[in-house]
Amino acid sequence: MSAEIPIYDPELLKKYNLGERHETLKGDESLCVRPLYMSDYNRGFLELLGELTEVGNISEEQFQEQFEFMKNSHGTYYCTVIIDTIKDRVVGASTLLMERKFIRGCALRARLEDVVVSPNYRGKQLGKCIVEILTNLGRALGAYKMTLDCKDSMTPFYESLGYAKEPGNSNTLSIRYAAASKPEPKL
Ligand SMILES: CC(C)(COP(=O)(O)OP(=O)(O)OC[C@H]1O[C@@H](n2cnc3c(N)ncnc32)[C@H](O)[C@@H]1OP(=O)(O)O)[C@@H](O)C(=O)NCCC(=O)NCCS
Repeated sequence: MSAEIPIYDPELLKKYNLGERHETLKGDESLCVRPLYMSDYNRGFLELLGELTEVGNISEEQFQEQFEFMKNSHGTYYCTVIIDTIKDRVVGASTLLMERKFIRGCALRARLEDVVVSPNYRGKQLGKCIVEILTNLGRALGAYKMTLDCKDSMTPFYESLGYAKEPGNSNTLSIRYAAASKPEPKL
């Protein structure tokens, strides 16, 4: 069993009055928002991500290696989860990524990644809750802007949370690599 090691300091959410003070969570004491723990491998975190996209078979060892890398990345990865504390399961998740830039006086740019809520928990404002918390965390950590990529059908969801297409600046272009290999851990 993995240890209860958080991927970032849980005090950050308290410091900025995020997390347990969110209106949605006040209404249901069995739910809490916190950083991803290493032990969430055993709370269905990867199964939840499988509701978003292909995850593949990830061993606990692989998960721990990736977790350690992200944890030691100097404030880059803010993987955050919503836990049903009664069932002890991860029921919502998203990641705030803080990208360091040279532009704008060595600024920070925030990205919102991998927003997902467990099917049985949808429609209870949990998606909205985790997006709002991470959007506020990105601001509190000093980012000059926060962006996200989404399917066309999801645009209204994010627009309802304050995100907007910028005129002349709303394109995401991609190249899909045919065979993604295992990332080099030391990179
Ligand atoms: C998208 C997702 C995270 C929404 O989670 P949720 O907890 O059901 O959403 P909420 O209950 O917080 O919804 C908040 C509001 O957004 C609206 N909303 C939810 N999904 C929406 C959608 N696809 N399009 C437009 N509005 C949407 C809700 O109606 C609600 O409106 P209200 O505040 O007026 O009641 C969830 O459906 C999910 O995990 N989907 C699969 C993974 C996915 O597609 N993730 C997004 C990747 S970009």
